Amino acid sequence: MRTFGCQMNEHDSERIAGLLEGDGMVPADSVDDADVIVLNTCCIRENADNKLYGHLGHLKALKDRRPELQIAVAGCLAQKDRDAIRERAPHVDVVFGTHNVHRAADLLTQAREQGPIVEILEATVLEDAQAFPSVLPASRQSQHSAWVTIQIGCDNTCAFCIVPAVRGPEISRPFDTIVEEVRMLVDQGVVEVTLLGQNVNSYGRDLTKRRPLFAELLRAVGAVEGIRRVRYTSPHPKDLRPETIAAMAEVPTVCEHLHLPLQSGSDRVLAAMHRGYTGERYLQKLAAARDAVPDLAVTTDIIVGFPGETEDDFERTLAVAAEAEYDSAYTFIYSPRPGTEAAERVDDVVDADVVGERFERLRVVIERSAAAKHAARVGRSEELVVEGPARRDPRLTSGRTRQNKLVHFAVERDLRPGTVVEVEVTGAGAHHLRGDLLGVVATPRHRLRIPVVAG
Ligand code: 5AD
Ligand code: SF4
Repeated sequence: MRTFGCQMNEHDSERIAGLLEGDGMVPADSVDDADVIVLNTCCIRENADNKLYGHLGHLKALKDRRPELQIAVAGCLAQKDRDAIRERAPHVDVVFGTHNVHRAADLLTQAREQGPIVEILEATVLEDAQAFPSVLPASRQSQHSAWVTIQIGCDNTCAFCIVPAVRGPEISRPFDTIVEEVRMLVDQGVVEVTLLGQNVNSYGRDLTKRRPLFAELLRAVGAVEGIRRVRYTSPHPKDLRPETIAAMAEVPTVCEHLHLPLQSGSDRVLAAMHRGYTGERYLQKLAAARDAVPDLAVTTDIIVGFPGETEDDFERTLAVAAEAEYDSAYTFIYSPRPGTEAAERVDDVVDADVVGERFERLRVVIERSAAAKHAARVGRSEELVVEGPARRDPRLTSGRTRQNKLVHFAVERDLRPGTVVEVEVTGAGAHHLRGDLLGVVATPRHRLRIPVVAG
């Protein structure tokens, strides 16, 4: 399994892996050992297709040597490019989209017997519970932390974004099913869940019997016995309601972290993007959130070089970003996604050198506030959920704070992922903190492996 793109895709991959394991497969150590290779693609950002065809090019040699090897392409790019993939890479056995993840194992079996298959469903059927990846068996990447899909698709029309075209309209998963899944996860030893949706604040709008608010869901999930941390991503600033902020403030398990995508600080650009808020309105919502939730960490997404972005527009982005004092930000260089409204604006393309220079200036502003936020935590004691050995230095252990900050610390013995510890923060780097262990608060309850159930 190779995954590109966002958490939604990572979660889909867990489900695909779960289905294949349920079908009797086991994970291979390397591509050379694999009988089945699944590439789960993303089309949100630039070059996804070049990268995919690059990978498929490498796999061609492998397939020539071992014709029984099966190659499947899944995800957004598969959904969007469908037949084009088999035309450009005829050695691909199965192409399936974002609405039929649940068919992964069946499609591979069918292709083995009948030859290559392209199956892309246009949209999900409302009644089809399998549309939600969380309903399928999973092979989770982590035993203590889990993603839970609460909604698929998106009803917005952001001019730069391909998601509504590939993921379809918004469909909310039934309230009780979500809470039930969280209960089951906690039973299995999960201590942290992240509720996933393209626009979580509009959760429930499409449900017919009762139309629960996202805030109610947050409260219900946060009240599940045994859950320690609840996170969610991503809210849309225009739909961020006071009720959600109140739930964050009042439910102790909901973490003090808000990922609030800004995209641009210029009202003119925001209007052209169809974002539905101004820079000022965004800052007001942020201020209200910070007032209500002490010690709130704030992160964002910002696009540089949207068609027609002037120096003045960009300076507004810098000003709003500076005022927002982000803990960190994902910054993107705008890239046209064919099929989106903004991609039509070929005459307004911003010069690449100008974009590069703006990107750099934005980075400096973000790093300034990130460094200040990190430095302010030195000397404090923080609760961490252990993730495992630090990637850069396996002699150290890493964990995350409630604000989602990574902390590295030294410990004599191995601590299992999911262990809760208390550390004193002793130092701050650009992207992580360092700490000294003060003590272990809780040990994980999960078994070493959650059994995979066939679907
Ligand atoms: N170009 C650049 N960035 C994009 N994003 C989405 N579409 C594009 C695009 N065409 C970014 C947005 C979004 C994040 C997931 O990806 O900032 O919030
Ligand atoms: Fe794309 Fe906008 Fe929907 Fe987010 S809210 S998925 S950026 S259309």
